[in-house]
Amino acid sequence: MAVREVIVPLNARSAPRDTLARPMRDLRISVMDRCNFRCPYCMPRETYHEQYRFLGSHERLSFDEIVRLARLFVQLGVRKLRLTGGEPLLRAGLPDLVGDLTTIAGVEDVALTTNGVLLARYASELKAAGLKRVTVSLDSLDPEVFARMSGGFGGVEEVLDGIEHARRAELTPIKINAVVQRGVNDHTALDLVERFRGTGVTVRFIEYMDVGNRNHWRSELVVPSRELAARIGERWPFAALEPDYRGEVAKRYAFTDGQGEIGFISSVSQPFCGDCTRARLSSDGVLYTCLFATRGTSLRDALRGGASDDALLELIRNVWLQRSDRYSEQRASLRQAEKEQRKIEMFYIGG
Ligand code: GTP
Ligand code: 5AD
Ligand code: SF4
Ligand code: SF4
Repeated sequence: MAVREVIVPLNARSAPRDTLARPMRDLRISVMDRCNFRCPYCMPRETYHEQYRFLGSHERLSFDEIVRLARLFVQLGVRKLRLTGGEPLLRAGLPDLVGDLTTIAGVEDVALTTNGVLLARYASELKAAGLKRVTVSLDSLDPEVFARMSGGFGGVEEVLDGIEHARRAELTPIKINAVVQRGVNDHTALDLVERFRGTGVTVRFIEYMDVGNRNHWRSELVVPSRELAARIGERWPFAALEPDYRGEVAKRYAFTDGQGEIGFISSVSQPFCGDCTRARLSSDGVLYTCLFATRGTSLRDALRGGASDDALLELIRNVWLQRSDRYSEQRASLRQAEKEQRKIEMFYIGG
């Protein structure tokens, strides 16, 4: 009797789940390790000065390499791509990459996280290339506070102009990410909300995180979202919304007067590792499975060593199958020595 082959659909066979049963759904691709800001919580100036050695252009993945890898990630279950940096708009020709990524079958969302300074210049080109939406970092509307938090680079007006160009180009929904540090910008949070309420732009406040090794993080500098939300809610009441998708990073709320939404990203006070489906690719092609990872796996070495697509798929799949990261949930219980292990830097992995 002939043996009938059981045909398993490729996707079911190849979409891996990690040790906590989390699938891989999002790929955050850092395209550039440089930045035109020096936010002290990310790239403090004393470390990232003129002599700091960033990657050389041959060390960064080429667009062809990024696209090839992105296709493979999509075969393994990824549906959402986010381009990050450093500052991604410093990467020459970025709209060309966007154009290639948006045509990959299976990709449902392609977004970009930027500090906004170069957005006015590139918004319409990015839209034409197929980019869906942008998220802009803006920590304060107060010029002095802004300067302190950007390390003295860029300006509020430039960023607002970038946001306006993104709006005109329909790179929507536009989100604003504001990192909150106690005593630095928390007193300006309400101004930010007021400025964007009713405009369709959603402000999201991020708890200051202990990413990397160089930002002098201290828990006293974290403003728990609950505290900030109470302050904002007193002025403009809001009610919780259902998540847009499972594992959404921001907890979203709608203003009860119909003037839009607000979000809180509370990785310190209310970790969300349980649903974390994010993989991260550095600009030199190292795959990381957590924002707080201490080591990664070089896909670039495999790629440039001549690995076939099947071999790369197997490599990525195995990394994901072994994944057990849940740093934010463990933060409080980790011993000091474990906390001090060398972590990757935020600008290198793109947040
Ligand atoms: P949407 O697709 O619009 O929901 O965006 P997102 O929230 O996934 O991406 P975005 O880049 O806007 O994330 C906002 C910020 O949340 C990041 O810059 C990080 O600071 C933080 N963040 C995102 N993903 C993670 C994560 O997996 N772990 C932790 N701890 N923080 C994260
Ligand atoms: N804590 C929280 N958010 C951070 N970001 C950068 N460094 C930190 C940190 N230490 C944010 C940026 C940007 C996104 C990429 O990550 O402000 O919005
Ligand atoms: Fe640049 Fe963003 Fe880091 Fe600031 S937070 S230094 S804008 S990569
Ligand atoms: Fe994911 Fe790591 Fe962030 Fe937890 S700490 S949500 S595992 S990236």
